[in-house]
Amino acid sequence: MRRLAAPLFLLVCGIWAACGKGSEPAIVAPESTSTEYRGLKDAAPYPVGVALQASRLESVPRNGLVEKVFSSVTAEYEMKMEPLSTGPGQYAWDAVDRLVDYAEARNMQVHGHTLVWHQTTPAWLENFAGDDAAFEEAVRVYITDVVTRYRGRVISWDVVNEAFEDGTGALRNSAFRRRMGDDYLERVFQMARDADPSVLLFYNDYGSIWDEAKKTAILDMVDRFQTNDVPLDGVGLQMHVTYNSPPLENITDMMNELVRRGLKIHMSELDIRANPDGDLTTLTAARSEAQKARVKAIVGAFNDLPEANRFAITLWGLLDPDSWLIEFWGNPEWPLLFDSQFRPKPAYFGFLEALEERS
Ligand code: XIL
Repeated sequence: MRRLAAPLFLLVCGIWAACGKGSEPAIVAPESTSTEYRGLKDAAPYPVGVALQASRLESVPRNGLVEKVFSSVTAEYEMKMEPLSTGPGQYAWDAVDRLVDYAEARNMQVHGHTLVWHQTTPAWLENFAGDDAAFEEAVRVYITDVVTRYRGRVISWDVVNEAFEDGTGALRNSAFRRRMGDDYLERVFQMARDADPSVLLFYNDYGSIWDEAKKTAILDMVDRFQTNDVPLDGVGLQMHVTYNSPPLENITDMMNELVRRGLKIHMSELDIRANPDGDLTTLTAARSEAQKARVKAIVGAFNDLPEANRFAITLWGLLDPDSWLIEFWGNPEWPLLFDSQFRPKPAYFGFLEALEERS
């Protein structure tokens, strides 16, 4: 969709929505349609991404915002193994192709999420009937087929997501570990590298900014990888945080450890819970301002990293109602940068201020 000036864009969307062509709520123009706000991608010296679901790509209001504000896309769901791998050597490519096409048409880069994750192992692999060698070969075929198909189009991959247990940092006893052994991580990263010599390879996880055991486990894995020349370009910190926790110093400490190791850092799934204790039924102005200050501080910390270590900041969703957190935690929640009416929240301007005020 050609970029329209904001007022015209809102008028078009309003007409479109009024026609009831989609399930989107009617567009409510901000207080003043002359209010033009700057896209984050235009203010940022690094990609600013958003997690999208292929099922929402036909939504005009979302498209207008996505191409105005962001420069990178992560598939919130469709690139995971369970939806993509329908059987050995069988793939549901359509949704992924649509998402990659969508991003390319808007000059947006694509981050692949995620090749190996214990939570999205398809049943055919989880209950694999063959021997361990056949299991590993099935994994190799999967990684090779997927990474090769999008070579040059998906510039980075979360190769492994969430491999370590909360609280202990022990290696999760996933099917990958059970069938391939404790060094499965090394092997799947090498498989991805063999499939594409230039794609950036990430390890992605949550918790290293509040769970010392998990932080240690991830850093030990990085050190082991670097000692043994296992390909690894960066670490994704998911950044599912709240408006007041964890302390910013926990975030900067973990990022500094990764900088010391020469790695790229991806704030890969940023959302900022405004209602972690369930004390709100609506987003109050005070909590919204606290959320804004939190976003500004986090983006400011990322801005302070050396340029070579800043991969991207990706929001884990576009509109507040899109957020996975609502179902996951069961509380009313407003954790993203845009409200249900596609309007930028104070948190959006916190992000923008951090970009525009950077030293
Ligand atoms: C979540 C998506 O947001 C949901 O839509 C989906 O139903 C489940 O997965 N950490 C991750 C993400 O790495 O892949 C998860 O995304 C959220 C937690």
